[in-house]
Parts: sequence; structure tokens; C-alpha cells
Amino acid sequence: MSVAKKDIKRITTHVLQAMKEQGEKISMLTAYDYSIAKILDAAGIDILLVGDSASNVMAGHETTLPITLDQMIYHAQSVVRAVDRAFVVVDLPFGSYQGNSTKALNSAISIMKESGAHAVKLEGGAEIEESVRRILSAGVPVMGHLGLTPQSIYKFGTYSVRAKEEAEAQQLIEDARLLAELGCFAIVLEKIPAELGKKVAESVHIPVIGIGAGGGVDGQVLVVHDLLGLTKDFNPRFLRRYLNLFETVQNAVENYISDVKSGDFPSKDEQY
Ligand code: KIV
Repeated sequence: MSVAKKDIKRITTHVLQAMKEQGEKISMLTAYDYSIAKILDAAGIDILLVGDSASNVMAGHETTLPITLDQMIYHAQSVVRAVDRAFVVVDLPFGSYQGNSTKALNSAISIMKESGAHAVKLEGGAEIEESVRRILSAGVPVMGHLGLTPQSIYKFGTYSVRAKEEAEAQQLIEDARLLAELGCFAIVLEKIPAELGKKVAESVHIPVIGIGAGGGVDGQVLVVHDLLGLTKDFNPRFLRRYLNLFETVQNAVENYISDVKSGDFPSKDEQY
């Protein structure tokens, strides 16, 4: 029987580690609000990520940079209220941890205390080592994030595939090893060659979860708005859309408008 199905009431870091060891793939999606989180949890998702992609899909910003710690906490509180089983990870937003490990520790503690989430995620490798160490020393589980790290978009200049060159690929493997040795419980790899994703997953003992990192990693994550087709202009190769909700919702709302205008809604049965 799969590790996740074995009468497990709550997914923990130990369950995720057992899944890696037994070769069971980990499923992860983003969530930012109560209603969607409730559906994803009922469906049996293993990890819910309160991603700073909320800055894009919830707030309409072009990048993840503007979202604040308080806004992340608000989203995380809504998700945590909905969840019975999934492990909830929250992104530390841009500016809440880089270059200052005391600030990083305080940001992580605020998220854990005020939202009730189970872990935090930080973007970067060796350059954030001190922050990762201090957060871990407070007993807060940390998920790493390497490859395309959207908080550094103005350094990269584009959202194209990372680590295609040997030097960057080697650095990424070293960063992954460092994060695993420090005690991170998992690492997200974003938009890198599939072969490198597999190599990283084989090089570290902790789960490696990919988004555009191929099938050789230990699990997959997508932004839920993309999976459901609520977004329609974002079409990277790694994305599989399971629904086209933009059109479905638009059609429903057009029918509603038409029924209101014509007086068809409400009918006799829909009033007191
Ligand atoms: O914020 C986010 O949605 C993420 C995923 C892309 C992994 O970090």
C-alpha cells in the first residue's frame, strides 16, 4: 500500500521522507484561499504550498516581489483553516530573509505562529545558508528552492530554463547537497533540464519536487490556477492543464448576465 494512503491522518516531514525512500511520488499544489484548499485537501494532495505566486495569480502583479509578509500570513491562515491532512508550506516573501538571518528567523517565526502552517520555503543556496541554519535551529522545517527562483527575476532577466550550462548545473547540485546537509526536509527545483533534475534527486537523501524539472524527481508541483485553467496566457511546456475554468466560468457568468437582463432569473421557485 502507498505510504500516503496507509491510514495517514496528517502528512508530516517523516511521511514525505518515507515516500521518497519507497519511491512513491509526492503531489504538491499551490493554494492561497480556504475554498480551494478545502477541495485540494479532500482530493488527497500531499503538500499545499502557499506560494508567493499569490502575488501574480491573486493580486495581479507581474512578479512575486511585491507581496508582503503580512499578506503571505493572511493567505496561509486561510489555507490552514481548510486543511485536515495536507502538509502546509509557506513561502518567505522577497525581502523577508535575504541578507539578514535574524530577520529571516523572525519572518519564519511570524509565519508559523500567526498562520499555524507547518514549514517555510526559501529561494537560494549557499547565499542563504545562515538564514536556513537559524530557522532550522528554531525547529521550523525548511523547504529549499533552486533553479529558476522568481524572486531573483531581475538578476536572471528572463524566466527561461536555468542551469543548462555545466558550471551553473554543478553549482545547483552543490547547493542542493548543502541544503540537504543543513537539514532541509525537501527541495523544489524549478525549470531546469530533466536530466539535471534526476541527478539532483539521486544526489540528496531528501525529497526533490519539480516544476518543469522532468519526471526523474520525487514529486511534482504546479500552480493550481494553471492546472485548473483559471489562467490562460501562461503556457510553459511543463504545464498540464486539467480544466479550462477561464472559459467555463466566463460561459456561466455570461448565462447569468443574460438571465438577469431577460428577467428569467429569479424564477418563481427561486424567490420567497
Ligand atoms: O510560489 C510558487 O508558486 C512557487 C512554485 C512555483 C513552486 O514557488
